[in-house]
Amino acid sequence: MNMNLIKENFIKLGLKDVLYFSQLHSTNKYAKEKEIESDNLIVTSYQYEGRGRFDRIWESLEYNNLTFTLVKSFKLNTRDVHLINFYTSYIILKAIKEIFPEYLHSNFSLKWPNDLLLKNKKFGGILSELLNINETEKKFIIGAGINVNQKEFSDSIKNKATSLRIETGIIFELEDLLLRIIREFYGNISLINNPVELIEIWKKSFSYINKEVRFSKTSDNTEITGRVVDVMNDGGIKIETTDEFNTKNFTVYYTGEISFIY
Ligand code: BTN
Repeated sequence: MNMNLIKENFIKLGLKDVLYFSQLHSTNKYAKEKEIESDNLIVTSYQYEGRGRFDRIWESLEYNNLTFTLVKSFKLNTRDVHLINFYTSYIILKAIKEIFPEYLHSNFSLKWPNDLLLKNKKFGGILSELLNINETEKKFIIGAGINVNQKEFSDSIKNKATSLRIETGIIFELEDLLLRIIREFYGNISLINNPVELIEIWKKSFSYINKEVRFSKTSDNTEITGRVVDVMNDGGIKIETTDEFNTKNFTVYYTGEISFIY
């Protein structure tokens, strides 16, 4: 990646600067440690200590994929902080779909709360961290990992992980992809202030509504099975469970993980 050559293109889109590192522990960790300001993008070609949600390791082969963090402040109500995940996952999927012909778009989907799937396998994930929940102007560290040109994954994840290259046979230019993502991010930003519309369009790529799922509750590490009823305008997922007396209960969750029951 030669970010220096194209920095100007990013700055034209609204960024203050692009901080590129040939290697870095983690772009999210760097943003926090160095207290990087809003509208800066941190990018690395080799992230050797990447982390995902629930502190899981984020595996990414050096020089093959996108691993970056955008620092961005938004004036948001506390109720709406989850929307950043939905906005970012929608935007990244939108930017990526644009490079493919229309007939392939249905292969791409979103999984609650912010996984990017291609043919039902995960090729991208987002880890957004909020640093100052009590302030009106909220500062988010929005980290994204997108598997682009990696051809193989380690045994432990190869059944559920994929990359754009694995599914299409095409090798993609990372700088171009990143530029497209940032262009879409800044170009649609008013959507953040329109939760109803945002969730509505996010749900168009979400295929779990009315499906039976397993839901892992991260709050107490337990699992339930139930039916996905809806994703609410604040990003919560509503799950219906049925107890032994056949009574239906509805609960809205804000964190956790869903998976299909096959
Ligand atoms: C997930 O699906 O659990 C989220 C994965 C997020 C990975 C990205 S890669 C860039 C940024 N830096 C990190 O350490 N993590 C995020």
